Amino acid sequence: MSIIYNEQNQTISLHTDNTTYQMKIGPLGLLLHTYYGPLMDGDASYGIIYRDHGFSPNPHDTGRDRTISADTLPLEYPCEAAGDFRAPALSISTEDGVLIGDMRYQSHRIIKGKYSLKDLPAVYAEESEAETLEVTLKEKFSEIYVTLQYGVLPSLDVITRTALIENRTDRKIILNQAASGSIDILSGEWDLIHFQGRHAGERSLERVALGHREELVGTRRGVSSHHQNPFVIIAERKANEEYGACYGMNLIYSGGFSCNAGTDAFGRVRAVMGIQPEHFDYPLEPKETFQAPEIALACSNEGFGRLSRIYHKMIAEHICRGPWKNKQRPVLINNWEATGPNFTAEKILSIAKKASELGVEMMVLDDGWFGKRDDDFAGLGDWYVNEEKLGCTMGKLAEDIRALGMKFGIWIEPEMVNEDSDLYRTHPDYALQIPGRDPVLGRSQLVLDFSREEVVDHVLDQICEVLDECKAEYVKMDMNRPLCDVWSLNSDTESRGKLQYRYVLGVYRFMEKLLERYPDLLLEGCCSGGGRFDAGMLYYCPQIWCSDNTDAIDRIRIQYGTSFGYPVRTMGAHVSACPNYDTWRSTPINTRAVVAMEGTFGYELDLNHISEEEMNEVKDQIRTFKKFGSLLHNGDYYRLTDVMNNHQEAAWMMVSEDQSEAILNIVVLDVTGNRPQRYIRLAGLDPEATYTDPVTDVVYPAAALMSIGFPIPRPHFPGTEWTRGAAEYEAFQIHLIKN
Ligand code: GLA
Repeated sequence: MSIIYNEQNQTISLHTDNTTYQMKIGPLGLLLHTYYGPLMDGDASYGIIYRDHGFSPNPHDTGRDRTISADTLPLEYPCEAAGDFRAPALSISTEDGVLIGDMRYQSHRIIKGKYSLKDLPAVYAEESEAETLEVTLKEKFSEIYVTLQYGVLPSLDVITRTALIENRTDRKIILNQAASGSIDILSGEWDLIHFQGRHAGERSLERVALGHREELVGTRRGVSSHHQNPFVIIAERKANEEYGACYGMNLIYSGGFSCNAGTDAFGRVRAVMGIQPEHFDYPLEPKETFQAPEIALACSNEGFGRLSRIYHKMIAEHICRGPWKNKQRPVLINNWEATGPNFTAEKILSIAKKASELGVEMMVLDDGWFGKRDDDFAGLGDWYVNEEKLGCTMGKLAEDIRALGMKFGIWIEPEMVNEDSDLYRTHPDYALQIPGRDPVLGRSQLVLDFSREEVVDHVLDQICEVLDECKAEYVKMDMNRPLCDVWSLNSDTESRGKLQYRYVLGVYRFMEKLLERYPDLLLEGCCSGGGRFDAGMLYYCPQIWCSDNTDAIDRIRIQYGTSFGYPVRTMGAHVSACPNYDTWRSTPINTRAVVAMEGTFGYELDLNHISEEEMNEVKDQIRTFKKFGSLLHNGDYYRLTDVMNNHQEAAWMMVSEDQSEAILNIVVLDVTGNRPQRYIRLAGLDPEATYTDPVTDVVYPAAALMSIGFPIPRPHFPGTEWTRGAAEYEAFQIHLIKN
């Protein structure tokens, strides 16, 4: 039993293999949060000291007792309007704008297996792998109910949370905010780690000290965004990669979100995360319910490395679905950086032919094959093949690609429409826009109203016709602008918040229906690179294009940040041409491959244009990737350097679950004359064993590799015994086998 209700103490404890999460039905039925940390038995509520905190309000039913205040108690689902002035998880008002909501415990039940959510992605598990706790809170003065659901996955060390809000009154109410979960921490000094960025610079780790103010991260863009990621860590001030306490909050949602974290007047931390509350104003009619998206919590007492590995496993095995979830992904080549939207079938075939000779397994045809799409001003929405431009049908192109022994995939951007398109000319109402105003453009395109089923179905039907014709094994699903002037002809969606929520559900519905129709399809997510890299999308797409920035050195930082919340096998990463189109930096093709192998691995250039020597390297790279694919993608992942602060080298490694082998990756970032030897301290090996590098035959004691470290190799000058220091941007990939 992982969920234990102690009637005497009125505590409910949620145990995973290594952690405990505890709540208590407190005075007046307030649901208190008492503990989240290493496995524990007993009642942690001794930590809550009841006293008059000085002018903090008290519920009326405490009478003359001023020691009970929602403003100072740690709460499971803090609600505005009950005297708690800290960041709320729930905020409700009447239609006239009166804030209400004094939520008290009503009942709870413990159920076998993990709950699932209708229309929303969620962690899934076998019945024997999980338990569910449901706690129902009732508003003291009305028939408003909140059911908090908790999924406990003991062997994963994950606890999921969500909230279902029900209006059983006879009047409409407005949800100003309905977060997915919150954490209250009683003591200690804490930091917020979040992953900020921009297009071509996603998920850069930033760490800020939580002081006596609220830190707000999130996005108003309607998608999870390049700018902030819906994964954050609340870390003890001294915590690092290997030591210290930290909590992860991973929101399984692809729309606008926010996380509010801060320290209150008495030094206690609260972090609340969920759908972006600004302009949410979700109207809830009598009998209507609102389901908040799920958030997955994890807690590590051994630093961020362990926390990340928990999420890697959770996402790889309990979020990603379908036949590709555990299968090695095909090495693909994508034509975008080579051709942009200007190509013919002949050109695509010439790229595919060379790629197949070198061992690439799949050709992906990117943007430009449909409608009048010769640049990015026209064509989106017209999902019929431009045969004139291609010079043949899509079926014929696919057949020719398959004749080369390759699989075939295409790019789509189903949520979008250009004004210059047949779809827009026929159905202008299908686009989100405000009547009487010019629509705001983004990359010269408008967003289709995916909150409406008929719009989703129309686009899906068109795309399916093309997929039926070419029998694509892979689809890259892009989304290249944020939601801005949000207004729908659909009368159900009276608020911006409700429309944006329904829009996200529409996107999920599109993907679900696509996968129902083509169950073997490998779907890759994309949003101008990595602008929608979140656990919600990963429920449908086992991989997401990580960034439009394919510069290997920039990519190291982007993939480093991404690796905190997401596994390597979900990160779309390709080798591209040099100098890089964006940074104009040149790196060796080996380095580009080592970095792309910290991801799904593929190519994004015309391989006809590289040297003979590089072509041989490409052949070797593909052989290496296929040989070590399982270790690279399924091994336990260790970050070995802090790339935000160490500018000398970057290193990471993957270790097989049984510790029998490992692969170490090093990229040298900076060099200097007569340089001191540098070492990379390894992790995750069996400390009692020795490991051999089969290329050099050197035998290393693992304990020494994990304390002295692995010396950064000094390559030989060709044909001599002399060695040199590694060059700037030179990369090494070292296989270690346990003896
Ligand atoms: C986005 C994607 C790119 C490419 C282009 C095509 O920017 O991130 O990979 O598909 O769109 O327009």
